[in-house]
Amino acid sequence: MTATSRPIPYRGSGDFWHRTSPRVMGDLASRPELRRVAAKLAPGRVLDAGSGTGFLTRQLQSSLPDAFIHSLDRELSLLRHAMTDDRTRRFVLCGDIRSTPYCGDAFDVIVCAGVLMHFSATDLFQIFSEFRRIVRVGGSIVISVPHPTLFHCRSPARRHKDCWLRLVPVVRQLTRPAPFVEHYKDVHGEIFKSIVWSHSAESYARLLRGAGFRGVRCRTILIRRAHLITPRWGAAHSYPGYLHITAEKTSA
Ligand SMILES: C[S@@+](CC[C@H](N)C(=O)[O-])C[C@H]1O[C@@H](n2cnc3c(N)ncnc32)[C@H](O)[C@@H]1O
Repeated sequence: MTATSRPIPYRGSGDFWHRTSPRVMGDLASRPELRRVAAKLAPGRVLDAGSGTGFLTRQLQSSLPDAFIHSLDRELSLLRHAMTDDRTRRFVLCGDIRSTPYCGDAFDVIVCAGVLMHFSATDLFQIFSEFRRIVRVGGSIVISVPHPTLFHCRSPARRHKDCWLRLVPVVRQLTRPAPFVEHYKDVHGEIFKSIVWSHSAESYARLLRGAGFRGVRCRTILIRRAHLITPRWGAAHSYPGYLHITAEKTSA
């Protein structure tokens, strides 16, 4: 478990992840902000890394109508939804973000939402090195992961029965970073289970710098009352929900 990450159970989960309107917390609290940040960078060539069913890809395409937005994901059952939509079907590829099929300097911006928490530090370093290879000099990466404080034993995700996220430690003795079982609830109360890692913001930043990125900036996205659109998601609000990280490739 220490060197590389366990396989992530996305196979066959297209029905859970396919959505035409916001259905999970990330759709409400994180993706709108990612879309704003990406639009501000005004890129011409964008990679949605770990694009899944293309929910975010479609939003990016609406914000950046002239951009070429590419979708890459490992799971065909999710990509199938992106392939049947006119807005995203043009540039869909099945592949692994640890070793992508793209040539060097192919993108102005890489967006990666709700993917990197699934990987160990060893895998993250490989992914960041690969992102650096395929983004151009002067280009950026924009990342969103569940906020590290959610893994703390006093966070709503560890203590409250009613919460959009439940995190259960896989091992008793918690070392940093450690694997957790994540129970991610949608607005209907359906749960998607996977393995996630409790990397700190410093750990993500250190790995990004180690892979050669500069200008690493971390931002906390708070969960607000307006995000808790269902009683099943609990009453607590105004706590860190997502960590957004941007970084730049400043040299070849
Ligand atoms: C929570 S979904 C997020 C989908 C999308 N980014 C969004 O914002 O809606 C995580 C996605 O990461 C993909 N994924 C996990 N490991 C991957 C890998 N090694 N290479 C490519 N995609 C991967 C999964 O198949 C899944 O579609």
